[in-house]
Amino acid sequence: MKHALIIGGSRGLGLGLVREHLVRGWHVTATARTPSADLDTLCREMDGRLTLATLDITSRVQLAALAARLRGQTFDLLFLNPGIMAGRGAAPGDVPDSDIQTLFLTNAISPIRVAEALAGHVAPGGLIAFMSSILGSIATNDDGRAELYRASKAALNSLIRSFRARHAADDITVLAMHPGVVRTSMGGPGAPLDIETSARGLADVIAARWGSGGQAFVDYRNEIIPW
Ligand SMILES: NC(=O)c1ccc[n+]([C@@H]2O[C@H](COP(=O)([O-])OP(=O)(O)OC[C@H]3O[C@@H](n4cnc5c(N)ncnc54)[C@H](OP(=O)(O)O)[C@@H]3O)[C@@H](O)[C@H]2O)c1
Repeated sequence: MKHALIIGGSRGLGLGLVREHLVRGWHVTATARTPSADLDTLCREMDGRLTLATLDITSRVQLAALAARLRGQTFDLLFLNPGIMAGRGAAPGDVPDSDIQTLFLTNAISPIRVAEALAGHVAPGGLIAFMSSILGSIATNDDGRAELYRASKAALNSLIRSFRARHAADDITVLAMHPGVVRTSMGGPGAPLDIETSARGLADVIAARWGSGGQAFVDYRNEIIPW
């Protein structure tokens, strides 16, 4: 049975990814910053196939505690899902510094820090996926909207490539993934995709790219996105 470690599974797409991998017969360890009634219910239903842990990805103390708790365990998939929106519609100069710091710490720095701390738990041949966004593509940035958010995801993409380079000798595949525009708290009620469709697509892409090595920036339909 394959084992996934999904970081940020409390709600939205993270919870969707937890559900999808459980449906596929995986064992899942899911972390959440905030207690999640949905995860608790799933845990009761899953008869030991879902394990829960706490992690605010911006907390070094909580990350060290999680790494200690996971000592000796290996995972086939490590999925870094958390992300936040800030300054939507505002020019960078109009957004408070504290919001900018939290945005970049959450969306760009912390996913890499968590991946670095847990990379040793990924089995040979395994896969590390980061939830990016098509808005992180510098090459396709023609309209500039959500500019601080997209800069944070562009920074994440750059850090993903540096992470991959640092781990060039490791037998892993690294993906930066765009889930589509999805009806979550972040995507809003008018977004075209439901969580189930996006999570199914992301899981299909992970399965299709399993063992391919290297790195790719892809969407939930396995279409390549220019960096
Ligand atoms: N929805 C879209 O259309 C869309 C499009 C492109 C990319 N994305 C990306 O997809 C990912 C998931 O977004 P979503 O749409 O599911 O948004 P969401 O419903 O707002 O969920 C955000 C998730 O991130 C978690 N999170 C935020 N900050 C965290 C922290 N410091 N530590 C741990 N967990 C944290 C939240 O946990 P709490 O419950 O504790 O707040 C929640 O589980 C994000 O990276 C987002 O940028 C979404």
